[in-house]
Amino acid sequence: MIQRPRGTRDFLPDEMEARRAVEGDMRTKARQYGYREVCTPEFEELELFTLRSGEGIVSEMYAFQDKGGRWVSLRPEMTAAVLRLYVNEARVWPKPIRWFYFGDCFRYERPQKGRYRQFWQFGAELIGADTAAADAEVILLAHDLLSSTGIQFDLQVGHLALMRHILSPLPDESRRQVRALLDKRDMAGLSRFLSEGDYGLMEDQLTALSEAHTLEDIFAVTGDHPENERLIELCSLLDAAGIDYTLNPAISRGLDYYTGVVFEAFAEGLGAENQILGGGSYRLAHLFGGDDTPSCGFAIGFDRVMVALGDREPSSARRVVVASTPAGRLFATEVARLLRRAGVITEMDVTGRSLSAQMAHASKTAAFAVIIGQEEAQKRSITIKDLSRGMQQTLPLDEAVRELFSGTR
Ligand code: HAM
Repeated sequence: MIQRPRGTRDFLPDEMEARRAVEGDMRTKARQYGYREVCTPEFEELELFTLRSGEGIVSEMYAFQDKGGRWVSLRPEMTAAVLRLYVNEARVWPKPIRWFYFGDCFRYERPQKGRYRQFWQFGAELIGADTAAADAEVILLAHDLLSSTGIQFDLQVGHLALMRHILSPLPDESRRQVRALLDKRDMAGLSRFLSEGDYGLMEDQLTALSEAHTLEDIFAVTGDHPENERLIELCSLLDAAGIDYTLNPAISRGLDYYTGVVFEAFAEGLGAENQILGGGSYRLAHLFGGDDTPSCGFAIGFDRVMVALGDREPSSARRVVVASTPAGRLFATEVARLLRRAGVITEMDVTGRSLSAQMAHASKTAAFAVIIGQEEAQKRSITIKDLSRGMQQTLPLDEAVRELFSGTR
């Protein structure tokens, strides 16, 4: 038996239906904010990601040389591709541009619960606005999308400038290492790293910053900073919208392209892989040949949301099996087409089984059976059997279709 590759999953119909339902709700919500869906290739030129996505993600990429000798990679995330699309096709469009996407991404990570090598992201990018209102809109959309799924989550909002201000005395490489440790929330590792480099004061400041959860406490650590105003305005907009969030100025984000406001969301009960959303403001368009364009966006780890939701009731759409005798078969074919056209999920026997075997199969797989024998075919009526209650009635075709349509919804 051939097994599927490590870190990938198969989805059976119940799970697929649950995923499609959640995905559909997210699409509806994103459209309500004026966002429109885009789709980009699953592989891109490797350079698209090496330009600015950061070490972590680059070392996890599924990169390879194609038959023409070009270096390409399966996408580890979608923001870089969406910004490439913007530069290629939409840079003269009226701004801001509001786009969303849903697609699979690939990262060569050590698989565990909630961490896969192929996983799906639902994301949004607001391109061409650099205001607290833009940050607020994107955060509100993220919050609404997660709320619409019904999961419990903690949304945390920070600003990279505050952290960068504290880390500014460090050489570039050390700054990168400190941010990676902060992103992993490895405070012991951070302490070791900073004390080795004789940056004890910085450690105190970072500890104070990571414990500051009000604007006053944050500004007490960072002092006067040009970005303070932005954070104040953002908080007042989020407060006006009435959403729950926590200020966390220690958020550092694993990707290198972020420039300002950053945010993450965490769900309960997921263990180590509890981050279900990450995003922030960033600049990427200029790296791909466009003008320097401020943008803000996020991606939801769709699979983690599904894990957090747990097993749910299989789809409520109920099925009908049309069972017939050989004499009723042609009329049964007509009836099945009619039911499907009326929106009823309808199956018909394709194995040539006897009527009783068709009924036995229907009792295992469907909510209703439609029984058609010679008499029904002659009278153009059908017998409907409610399989859970065992009741049956014979009705003229039109009436039966109406009955089944209401019964299966
Ligand atoms: P990210 O934080 O790397 O950000 O990924 C976003 C989310 O994808 C994570 O919060 C997590 O839920 C999910 N995720 C990441 N890796 C895995 C994995 N191996 N298995 C399952 N889920 C995973 C980005 O990708 C940015 N592009 C977000 C963004 C959009 N920033 C601005 N615009």
